[in-house]
Formats: sequence, C-alpha cells, structure tokens
Amino acid sequence: MSIAQSFLNNDKRDIDGKEAAREIIDVIKSRKQSENVQPGLAVILVGEDPASSVYVRNKSNRAEECGFLSRQYNLHEDTSESEVLELIESLNKDNDIDGILVQLPLPDQIDPHKVIQSIAPEKDVDGFHYLNAGRLMTGDIEDALLPCTPTGSLYLIKKALGENLTGKHAVVIGRSNIVGKPMASLLLKENCTVTIIHSRTERPEELCRQADIVVAAVGIPELVTEEWIKPGAVVIDVGINRITTKDGSSRLVGDVNYAEVYPKAAAISPVPGGVGPMTISMLMQNTLDAAIRKKNHN
Ligand code: GUN
Repeated sequence: MSIAQSFLNNDKRDIDGKEAAREIIDVIKSRKQSENVQPGLAVILVGEDPASSVYVRNKSNRAEECGFLSRQYNLHEDTSESEVLELIESLNKDNDIDGILVQLPLPDQIDPHKVIQSIAPEKDVDGFHYLNAGRLMTGDIEDALLPCTPTGSLYLIKKALGENLTGKHAVVIGRSNIVGKPMASLLLKENCTVTIIHSRTERPEELCRQADIVVAAVGIPELVTEEWIKPGAVVIDVGINRITTKDGSSRLVGDVNYAEVYPKAAAISPVPGGVGPMTISMLMQNTLDAAIRKKNHN
C-alpha cells in the first residue's frame, strides 16, 4: 500500500504545513549551531500593502527566532528605483548580510526584473536571479539557491508520497516565475512527467484529471473543483486569496475548492496552514545555506 493510500484509509488527508515547517526550523537551528555561523537576512518592503506587510513581518520574526541577524527595511511607497538599487548595492557589499529579499509586488515606478537582477546571486535567497533560475532549469542545483514556495511544496509532496516521485504525472496550474515555472523544473528533476496548465490551456480540467500530483498556483479562488481531480491524487494548494463572503466578512481560500476536493484526494494541503509556513522555513534554509557557503569559500 502506498503512503497516499494509507492517507485515504485513515482519513487523515490534510498535509500539515505548520508541523513540517517547524521540523525544518528545528533542523536549521541545530545546523546553525554546529556550523557556527551567524546568518544575516535583509528584507525590503516598498509601500504598505497589508498582505505584503504581514508576510515581511513574519519573515523577519522567523529569522530572529532562528537566531539570525534580521534587518527589515520599510521604504515609502514613492521610493525611486535608484534608491532601491542603491540599498541593494550596499547590502551586496555588507559582510553581515547573507540573504536579501525584496518583497513583490513592487510599486509601478520600480522595475522588478532590474531589482531582482541587482541582487548578488549568492545572496538571492528568493532564488529569482537569472543565475539561480538557470541553475535550476539546467539541473545544476547543488550550487543554486532555489525558490522557497516550490521547494516547500515539493517537501510536502514527499511527505504524502515518499521520496521517490519517478514516473508520476504532475500537473502544475500557473506559469509564474515565482512558483509555476520553478515548480515544474523541480518536479522534472524528480523524474515526474510534468504538464503546465495556464490561462490559455484548452480543457484544463481534462488534463488535471490525469494528474497524480496537482500543484495549484494561479491566484484564482477555488478554481480547482472536484471534477478536476483523479481519486487518490495529492493536491498542493499554493493560492492565498482573500474573499468576501455573503455576510460581508472576509476569509482566506486557496486555488482549490477544499470542501469538494478533500474527499477525493489522497492528501491535500490546507489554506491557511499548508504551503504558507513552508515558504518561510525554506527562506530560512536558503539564508543558512548562503551563510555556510560564504564561510566555506572564505
Ligand atoms: N511575493 C509573493 N511571493 C513572494 C516570494 O516568494 N518572494 C518575494 N520576494 N515576494 C513574494
């Protein structure tokens, strides 16, 4: 019996992202001690988008909890592109800082590509720089910093299915540079057969119904309904969408209709409490890895 089937039988289908994220943080704390490094993380927020402010605060707090040096830069909404580039340039040279993260999206006057490419690749803990993206794409992942949400999602998939994903059909919904494309590359590296579904895909539900693994990262509330899912599939929901309900209150939902899909899936990551906490743990892991690599190269 596969691990996925055992999920079906004992009816514990939620993949607990909070617990997995905590597991990773515990390992990070002990590796930090045994490697005797002092990782430093700089997080930059431009503007006051409420959701981004919460994410950034959570990242800084978790860095502190791990015993890292944690610096948060809250820049005004009107900050110019050159001011952001200057700050990054100084952080690139700052020996106390191992990881630099600029929270996206950025205000219109700032070109996100220019900003991301200005981060030194060895400090690019988001894994968005061309060098890190290229390393992932070509399978040279030993030296790469990998994007946090896809690596966290892969960790959860392996929690449900075990380490060996060879031959599984994985369907990734969404083709963003932050999640969809790197997720597809990671799954390919795991010997999955990978299909990417996007806004122009014809009959997406038919393709998705063939999947052993579904990763939904498209930002459309509850797009994936029961008809999209093959019985026994493992479903990872990356979406975090705030919707307003009929009574006027608001709540968070994923890209998957959880209530419909839960009975059909072998395992499903809930929103909240699934992928979200994993993204932050993987960011801490990248920051620690960057600090250890710096120590070993000096
Ligand atoms: N905005 C949404 N997700 C992310 C992420 O993973 N990194 C950054 N920097 N911004 C984001």
